[in-house]
Amino acid sequence: MANRILLVYFSRTGHTRKVAMDIASALGCDVEEIRDRVGRGGLVGYARSSLEAIARFDTLLAQTRHDPADYDLVVVGTPIWFWSLSSPVRTWARRHRDDLRKVAFFCTCGSPGGQRALAELEALYGSTVASLALTDREIDAGQIGSKVATFVEGLAAGTRPRARTATTARG
Ligand SMILES: Cc1cc2nc3c(=O)[nH]c(=O)nc-3n(C[C@H](O)[C@H](O)[C@H](O)COP(=O)(O)O)c2cc1C
Repeated sequence: MANRILLVYFSRTGHTRKVAMDIASALGCDVEEIRDRVGRGGLVGYARSSLEAIARFDTLLAQTRHDPADYDLVVVGTPIWFWSLSSPVRTWARRHRDDLRKVAFFCTCGSPGGQRALAELEALYGSTVASLALTDREIDAGQIGSKVATFVEGLAAGTRPRARTATTARG
């Protein structure tokens, strides 16, 4: 049976959404956009997002449609907020810390980075199958095709069942 894959992401200004759509169309997988119930637009939304990121506060999530426990692999995408996960993704990740079998990670950021966010996710789930960090500049310039393709190949390799060890019977 084919692996079931869910892609889960949050996006405030569209960069993570763009990457999520590219990955999802390459994988043909189910998609869940994480939404929360607080305003994130304008200066007030930016300030709220900053505060939550720095203090590592959870947020109030809107209802989600997919149960990640039903999937073999969950791909989690987030913008980087103050070198770490965005609060909606952190809230979702904490809520589902015991539900995920295999996890892959991608992030979008103003400047290259994302290691701290990846480390935070790995602290919750253990190791990740593959990871990808893209800058706004690359995304806006439409220069992400080859990195997304490599990431998607890594997902396929990470979810492939292990080959059985050949055994020989004598006698
Ligand atoms: C509150 C806040 C904090 C941010 N902190 C960082 C940061 O620490 N490092 C970075 O490279 N970009 C940072 N950014 C920029 C975003 O990570 C980047 O623009 C991202 O692509 C936005 O994704 P989105 O368009 O899907 O919301 C921050 C943006 C916000 C709103």
